[in-house]
Amino acid sequence: MTSPLNVAIIGMGTVGGGVAQILTEHSERCARRSGRSIHIAKAVVRDLSKPRGIDLPDGVLTDDVQSVIDDPNIDVAIQLMGGTDPARQVMLSLLEAGKDVVTANKALLCDHGPELFEKARELGRCIAFEAAVAGGIPIIEAVSQSMSGNQITSIQAILNGTCNYILTEMLKRSASYGDILSEAQELGYAEADPAMDVEGTDAAQKLVILCQLAFGKRVSLSDFPTQGIDSLELADLKYAAELGYRIKLLAVAQLVGDSLELHVEPKLVHSDEPIAKTDGPLNIVALNGDAVGPTWYAGAGAGKMPTASAVVADLMDVVIGRAQLTFPLMSVWGDTGPQVRPPEEITRRYYLRFNVDDRPHVLADITDILGRNEISIASVIQHEAPEATGGETRSVPLVIMTHTTTEGRIRMADSELSQLDSIKAPRIRLPVLD
Ligand code: NAP
Ligand code: HSE
Repeated sequence: MTSPLNVAIIGMGTVGGGVAQILTEHSERCARRSGRSIHIAKAVVRDLSKPRGIDLPDGVLTDDVQSVIDDPNIDVAIQLMGGTDPARQVMLSLLEAGKDVVTANKALLCDHGPELFEKARELGRCIAFEAAVAGGIPIIEAVSQSMSGNQITSIQAILNGTCNYILTEMLKRSASYGDILSEAQELGYAEADPAMDVEGTDAAQKLVILCQLAFGKRVSLSDFPTQGIDSLELADLKYAAELGYRIKLLAVAQLVGDSLELHVEPKLVHSDEPIAKTDGPLNIVALNGDAVGPTWYAGAGAGKMPTASAVVADLMDVVIGRAQLTFPLMSVWGDTGPQVRPPEEITRRYYLRFNVDDRPHVLADITDILGRNEISIASVIQHEAPEATGGETRSVPLVIMTHTTTEGRIRMADSELSQLDSIKAPRIRLPVLD
């Protein structure tokens, strides 16, 4: 075996802690599989006084990232600080200093991928990023290598473990959104700013990365609609279950003719589908290839050890020299792909939920608006409410499932529905995955 490979871990939070744990507790296994022992030379944090829960030799923990950049003996940097600033500048400096980089930071790759990849190629370095999408599931390898004989025609994926955990546990335990979000944070699934998870941004960033690999299409977050789970209520999960569906936050990219349909939004998925059965912090990516047909990749999509598993695998690929071969061949950020389809043209069925006044003509007003927008109703749920006493008007939930229509028509109808006094907040509109 040759001399040890010196690595630095930049960011010793949830994921960095897991990486250090694998590299220290399973050092012999890592050395045997990569042909070289791996030595943690530095571990960079912001706050030296925070407990890290792992024993590192004196002098390894530092708050000075420049000491890593300047150290010629450090061969590989594992960059696990979140966000884009200063992460972008740190990665550029590491590459310029001659280091290969492993990262789990999807926000950084989504926003600055082209620049970082070009810099790495120009300098003959590599960036390995398996952990940036779907945590422990080897989806980057699947899309960029295992499916290379195919044109991928669709991606339908649960890409955010926090949201999937929240949706699963709310329904299972009839629990509140806020309580389960706090649990997801404690369990290490959520981003430092959990708004990134629940508003759908994290899943959208991952979709941007997959889109580039699968379709050769460079998109930015503003190119497609993103809706999170933050406006959903337990009632929606229960109505969906009553109708035979589960609600999942789905990231979708699919070729429709010459164009690419893209969106991130909560959707009703039929309960029999593998996606509907993917619960808790698990992720699933359904890839359709023109040669292979449907394939599914599922597993732990967030959290300390699953994400660390993908980071360490990438690190070993760099140590072995595999990543240096595959990275330049990915041509990851070329823009040769299809045009993004305008969201108004997207066609699907919808679940609509309103709180409506329980009085005459309310249902007729709603169905009139839907009808005038050429939206056909497939079913209606309004549970019987007790007779009102004292002459007051109650609000009752009304759920409507539509037949297939366009996003454009449903938006027009929604804008008219918003003018009806008889409809109270919230007005929920969720597409159905068919
Ligand atoms: P985290 O727990 O917040 O840890 C971030 C670490 O980076 C902390 O140790 C922090 O130091 C350090 N740090 C932040 N800014 C720094 C700076 N300017 N200089 C030096 N150190 C700095 O985050 P995480 O959950 O481990 O996530 C890390 C990355 O992996 C993120 O990009 C995230 O999106 C991605 N990711 C996370 C998961 C997951 O399940 N958690 C899964 C896949 C990908 P202090 O500890 O001193 O504050
Ligand atoms: N916050 C992310 C999630 C971490 O919940 O999926 C994994 O990327």
